[in-house]
Amino acid sequence: MIRIPKSDFKPGDRRKIKVNDKELLIIYLGADKFYAVDSKCPHLGCDLSKVGVVIREELVCQCHFTHFSLVDGKAIKGATKKPIKTYKVTVEKEDIIIED
Ligand code: FES
Repeated sequence: MIRIPKSDFKPGDRRKIKVNDKELLIIYLGADKFYAVDSKCPHLGCDLSKVGVVIREELVCQCHFTHFSLVDGKAIKGATKKPIKTYKVTVEKEDIIIED
């Protein structure tokens, strides 16, 4: 579990963080909409903190254009059907809590 101040994020921010041996990508869409996913694409491993584009609640890997749902990690369309791992993010007062 990791706790980060909510004020560290502006709407539209994406940030890669290391938790234990994992690299997570945190995406903030404004209000209380935070998402956390593996930063490595489950297709061929591109770094989504560099090649990921967010469109509404989808993360698109620009390596081979797979669209992943930020809500449940499902591969909606593209080069793979493998889902991306998502992590639960809760907002507690001034902090966000990411469960790994
Ligand atoms: S590495 Fe991400 S879609 Fe292929």
